[in-house]
Amino acid sequence: MKYVISLGGSIINPGRINTKLLKELKKIIKKSKHEFVIVCGGGRIARDYIKAGKELKTPSIRLDEVGMRATELNAELVSAALGVRRARSLEQAIKNNKITVTNGLFPGVTTDFDCVVIAGLVGAEAVINISNVKGVYNKDPKNKDAKLLKKLSYNKLIKLASEYELGQGANFIFDLAASKLASRTGIKLVFIQGLENLKKYLGKKSFTGSIVE
Ligand code: UTP
Repeated sequence: MKYVISLGGSIINPGRINTKLLKELKKIIKKSKHEFVIVCGGGRIARDYIKAGKELKTPSIRLDEVGMRATELNAELVSAALGVRRARSLEQAIKNNKITVTNGLFPGVTTDFDCVVIAGLVGAEAVINISNVKGVYNKDPKNKDAKLLKKLSYNKLIKLASEYELGQGANFIFDLAASKLASRTGIKLVFIQGLENLKKYLGKKSFTGSIVE
């Protein structure tokens, strides 16, 4: 089976590059019988550079290109750690390899969106989003009474993503465009925190997280 992993930049580098996590990810992937496409996000570097570009009145689409370069830097490190060359285009990212590592591929979207496109083209079982929250919550998980949704529909995900998009600067776990594309293409989305849950999910064991299908 093939899985697409969305590895956010804030997971790769939450202030300091998380080499422990990358070593563990390498072990899991090398041991697994499955095939993986790992799409790396840009995280704080992307956000800092985009913020600077905005102050410099740079056109928005050029800022996307700036953000993409940050995703490339992370993907270069992750691909080197996993002993593969970074896939630099959609064509390269959908080749049938055991391990593929890529980055943002088209200006104007996010790596969540890229993951859904790739998953559709390679016929992946699911997009697995690894983030720093347990999964999808019914409201901003900063709220104490926020509840983790273990299973939800595409429509619920789209509703939550739209609500966040209307809010000021709030960052939802999976952006609206990617959520809509997942709904249209019927790609299963799995949201987890931490590699223990990744192992459990891949091993078909009970895990903590959310499934959208
Ligand atoms: P990310 O996908 O990393 O954004 O892309 P994110 O979700 O905010 O960050 P993390 O990594 O999950 O924490 C960063 C920026 O790069 C540009 C967009 O501007 C995006 O906001 N980008 C990324 C593209 O234009 N195209 C892509 O395919 C990917």
